[in-house]
Amino acid sequence: MQGTAIAQPNIALIKYWGKRDVERNLPAVGSISVTLRELYTRMQVEFDASLDHDVLTVNGRPEEKMLPRLSACLDSVAGTARPRARIASICNFPIAAGLASSASSFAALTVAGAHASGRTMAADVLANLAGRASGSAARSLLGGFVELENREDAVVVQSLCTSAEWPLQVVVAITESGPKAIGSTEAMEISRKTSPFYAKWVDQQAHDLDIARAAIADRDFEKLAAVAEHNCLKMHSVMWASRPPLVYWNAATMRCMQAVRHLQGQGIGVFFTIDAGPQVKAVCLPEHVGDVEAALQATAGVADIMTTGLGSGARLERTA
Ligand code: DP6
Repeated sequence: MQGTAIAQPNIALIKYWGKRDVERNLPAVGSISVTLRELYTRMQVEFDASLDHDVLTVNGRPEEKMLPRLSACLDSVAGTARPRARIASICNFPIAAGLASSASSFAALTVAGAHASGRTMAADVLANLAGRASGSAARSLLGGFVELENREDAVVVQSLCTSAEWPLQVVVAITESGPKAIGSTEAMEISRKTSPFYAKWVDQQAHDLDIARAAIADRDFEKLAAVAEHNCLKMHSVMWASRPPLVYWNAATMRCMQAVRHLQGQGIGVFFTIDAGPQVKAVCLPEHVGDVEAALQATAGVADIMTTGLGSGARLERTA
């Protein structure tokens, strides 16, 4: 009646922004991400018939706010008639600050929950259950470069290339560690309903996915860099043009982007990407990681940096 799983967050290079079915949380667009190695969420689920409601701790502290979403996700994995659960989450990076903590949390929860309930589920089934809780979580089921395909009634995830096959590095510049103002779920709906650029964004996604997929197959860093930065800035343009405007950047976010541009001018293999938060993720070739770290660390407003390679998908920590 217990399971513990580890999952790593992922960073989208071709972004998911917008839903075509809010009820089932199906994305409006496909996406491509990289799963990270050094950041993780460890989720322990223990069913206990003596409990009359689910209990959650995050990093050892009781937590109420996230509990309804986690409970609903566990219901989808183990059935609504399941015993109540003690859920303990440990996360080694700032939560809800645009670092995809929900992705690693829900990916780990589905794997731990399935094990605790004695159910054996294929990776695609787990991906759909995790994705129903949080779209990006489906991608954390797998490692390396992961494509999420948007099918008629479900999502399908597949690994395009392992971390060993293309061992890129990611330097995350933390410019603020507080929680974000508007969560992605609500913000995506604001964009869908109000941004004049939303339809164009959805239309162009297949093209960006094709380019990125080919760049990954060819290990063509420059091609991947160009399409990833374009896709990121296009998503933020959709956000900025929403009403109310969704602006997640701060001054340091801009300075980090300029630092990356400067490095590119010096021939350093690096590109930036930014999600629904002010942190900048600089993806780089392994031989350039020292230069990228030094430049971002020296950028005004950067509180901290974290460097990580690419990692593997969600997995059980131990059987119990
Ligand atoms: C900007 O997966 O957090 O990080 O499905 O509503 O939980 P919900 O959204 P979520 O959105 C992620 C948005 C993004 C881009 C991405 O990861 O693809």
